[in-house]
Amino acid sequence: MKTERANIAVFISGSGSNLQALIDNSKSGKLSGDIVLVISNKSKAFGLKRAQDAQIDTFVFKKKNYNSESEASEDLLKKLTERNIDYIATAGYLQLLPVNVVQEYKNRIVNIHPALLPKFGGKGMYGEHVHEAVLEAGETESGPTVHLVDEIYDNGQILEQIKIPVSGNDTPETLAERVLEQEHILFSLALDKLIKGKYEITHG
Ligand code: GRF
Repeated sequence: MKTERANIAVFISGSGSNLQALIDNSKSGKLSGDIVLVISNKSKAFGLKRAQDAQIDTFVFKKKNYNSESEASEDLLKKLTERNIDYIATAGYLQLLPVNVVQEYKNRIVNIHPALLPKFGGKGMYGEHVHEAVLEAGETESGPTVHLVDEIYDNGQILEQIKIPVSGNDTPETLAERVLEQEHILFSLALDKLIKGKYEITHG
């Protein structure tokens, strides 16, 4: 396990508030790694602006810009290896990572999900859909999960969760806001522990 600071790539599709928390925690020393590359499948994602403001390199990765899926995934892996990326964080990235990337970075990719997995995960469970489902199911608690990434949506080993109470007055928006606040703390904490080799990897 590396003892120097790790190089981290963050994948986003949208606002990037989790990316911002990772950047801030990296600068303050709570996260023992540097965000050196931000990758988005959306060229207008606000998270790209956050990265540029923090002088972090960005890369817009769109499969449709390549002749084939394999050409796309090879180019993506090349970008990651050229930048000496050690760890990957997917923070509101609404696509599956290519299999070659998942395999190359096995047990070094973390994702944040806004509910208590294994409940309320899987394809289509993102953004407001998650919080709507939690409320519809009458759950009394929710909260973020950080897990390792494998080839299946929201399936890898769970590393950390924070439970918060769901109130009878919650709307998807109020619940999302409270969960997001916790996400901003939990993601850096989990990634920092992973970098420091503090988890026992039990899956795969
Ligand atoms: C977060 O709720 C995260 O859990 C989910 O997507 C959302 C991304 O928000 N995977 P942001 O782009 O980090 O603000």
